Amino acid sequence: MSVPLTFDGKVVLVTGAGGGLGREYALAFGQRGASVVVNDLGGNAKGEGKNSAAADKVVEEIKAKGGKAVANYDSVEDGEKLIQSALDAFGRIDIVINNAGILRDRSFSRLSELDWDLIQRVHLKGSFNVTRAAWNHMKEQKFGRIIMTASAAGLYGNFGQANYSAAKLGLLGLSNTLAIEGRKLNIHCNTIAPIANSRLTQNIMPADILENLKPEYVSPLVLWLCHEQCEETGALFEVGAGWIGKLRWERSPGHVLLRKNHPMSPEAVRDQWDNICDFKDASHPATVNESLMSMLSMLNKEPAGDGLVANPTSSLGHNPAQAVGYKFPDHTFSYTEMQCILYALGVGMSTKDPDHLRFLYEGHENFACLPTYGVIISQAAVMDSGLTNIPGLEINPTQILHGEHYLKCYQPLPTSGTLISKATILDILDKGSGAVIIINVSTYQGQRLVCSNQWSVFVVGAGGFGGKKSSPHAENTAPPPSRAPDAVVVESTTKEQAALYRLSGDRNPLHIDPSFSAMGGFKDPILHGLCSFGFASRHILKQYANNDPARFCAIKVRFVKPVLPGQSLQTEMWKEGNRVHFQCKVKETGSLTLSGGYVDLYEDQTSDPKALQPAADLQSRLVFAEIGRRIQASGAGLVEQVKGVFGWEITQDGKTVAQWTIDLKNGAGALHEGPYSGKADVSIAVSDADFMALVQGKVNPQQAFMAGKLKIKGNIMLGQKLDIILKDVAKL
Ligand code: NAI
Repeated sequence: MSVPLTFDGKVVLVTGAGGGLGREYALAFGQRGASVVVNDLGGNAKGEGKNSAAADKVVEEIKAKGGKAVANYDSVEDGEKLIQSALDAFGRIDIVINNAGILRDRSFSRLSELDWDLIQRVHLKGSFNVTRAAWNHMKEQKFGRIIMTASAAGLYGNFGQANYSAAKLGLLGLSNTLAIEGRKLNIHCNTIAPIANSRLTQNIMPADILENLKPEYVSPLVLWLCHEQCEETGALFEVGAGWIGKLRWERSPGHVLLRKNHPMSPEAVRDQWDNICDFKDASHPATVNESLMSMLSMLNKEPAGDGLVANPTSSLGHNPAQAVGYKFPDHTFSYTEMQCILYALGVGMSTKDPDHLRFLYEGHENFACLPTYGVIISQAAVMDSGLTNIPGLEINPTQILHGEHYLKCYQPLPTSGTLISKATILDILDKGSGAVIIINVSTYQGQRLVCSNQWSVFVVGAGGFGGKKSSPHAENTAPPPSRAPDAVVVESTTKEQAALYRLSGDRNPLHIDPSFSAMGGFKDPILHGLCSFGFASRHILKQYANNDPARFCAIKVRFVKPVLPGQSLQTEMWKEGNRVHFQCKVKETGSLTLSGGYVDLYEDQTSDPKALQPAADLQSRLVFAEIGRRIQASGAGLVEQVKGVFGWEITQDGKTVAQWTIDLKNGAGALHEGPYSGKADVSIAVSDADFMALVQGKVNPQQAFMAGKLKIKGNIMLGQKLDIILKDVAKL
């Protein structure tokens, strides 16, 4: 069992601890050995009046359980007095929980100056006064933990809470800076946006929801953030109902408007509005410096010819064009069946899936090597010979990125043998912000060509040498069709995925060593792009070629963003003749990791490719059919009542097996099966069995949500209208 977290010897001040969340924190700290100052002014929820009873009662509760506590009845506006109470009673102050709060909700037009001032004084100025009074004590003792209490109203805005939202988001700004100033002093400051049943929320939410929002579900996060073992600082969390999530800023890549001969103007802003607001490939700057540096790198990415900033330091050598045509020494690669199996495991194959056995068991009657193992063979030919030893080129090895990859198989790869690879530099391109080296590797078994690879290696900062921008030799990516994907496969990678994949040949420490990946600016070691590529390619091989490696002709991808081991890959596919366009996203973040991809398939020589096995009969299918019928029968009645689009993912054994969209917003309403091209207001994922339990009224949607059986995203308030659909429409 893990060692319990205790606070022996620590002194904690909890403001507004006479009730609600504050009381819960005070009790929890008291129970775990801290000496607690229970502060509460004891007024009403609007901040009127005062009373010592609330704080006294909590002090008694702590003492009754054997804890140490004193009361303080001052307003947080008198911060010094609160800290003095801690010093008088216990001689020090270690932890400050800024929690006291009131509400004075009014729509903005009716908001008085008093409503504004009182809220700022209690929440923002109160937290400032208390924290500043504690700061120097924390600084001297080189230990301090501070919590600021924000609110979803501050993060997202909320009708009637302009004063409160402003104060709550102000607390986040205060916390962000204190975290920076406190870092070297071992003073940590974090912000929470809680949701809990208290007198502040009692009249706002339905009773059955409030029942699940117990204040004791918030205190564990607060205690952990305040423990000496916790390294977190400057972070923001939403917490409630037994759930905790971390928040961060997201910024679109944006668009550079200022160029030679293109002045900044409001019209230019208008014309580029979609680009400015496009969150595809968004970044998450966490500091002012990161924000600035990534902005500058955007400027540097502009093409040198027409761009704002040319790249005077770029260098790929005196005459990069000289290296075109360079032939690497021939490379011999020997492998056995074991390497094929290790690679298959590295790209996520598992004995859990009976279809995978032919790639995992050398005794299988159809034992085969995955076609994408061809990249491993060619990789050795390029890397072992040394990209950095090419005459005429000066490449900084830390600046190399694998930009794109193309692989073509002329026959199924042997499951063992000795192959010879011949690599040549086909072209070198000048992309302004960097150079692209296109390397072709042809791999032979004896005289027979087995496969060829085209590596597009991006050398950061090496552009601007005046080279050409495109090449007739390059295999280009292809954008997917604009319709919704024809098929989508989601599969989790494991935490060990990179550790396993690297055993096939790419031993770059970036994928295993946390200190190395930190130097590259990554929080954790990242998965190999070619590992995600392996996942995506076998998703397509299974979906459209019945796992037959003989059908695999070629694959092309662009590597866009890294994936972390443990994240799930979502391969989206579009079939167009013998070409399957695809792209791959990280399911958890929605960010694109492989783009512009395609797999070309050879014609099936044996029989027609097997169609996807439909999922086992789904009970929900009948219900959706009934929902569709009733939507039609209701005319526009249901649309009037509901006004929303509901996307459903029905799962079985953790996999999505059906998708439905109930459109009760547009026209007379409609039901769609399969991927939906429009935008759902709320998306719901639920298993077939739980869906039936909901429809039959065995559980209600709130209960299912709280139990984690119903996952809901988007406009949750609309989710409350699920009852209308499930109870009234879906009765069978
Ligand atoms: P609560 O009303 O039960 O607790 C707040 C306490 O602060 C009260 O006991 C009150 O007497 C005390 N207080 C008010 N003004 C004070 C002052 N000037 N000096 C000292 N004490 C004072 O409310 P709850 O829900 O426990 O709120 C705690 C904190 O969490 C507040 O900052 C609130 O804004 C925040 N919050 C709560 C949410 C919830 O769902 N309950 C949602 C988002 C934020």
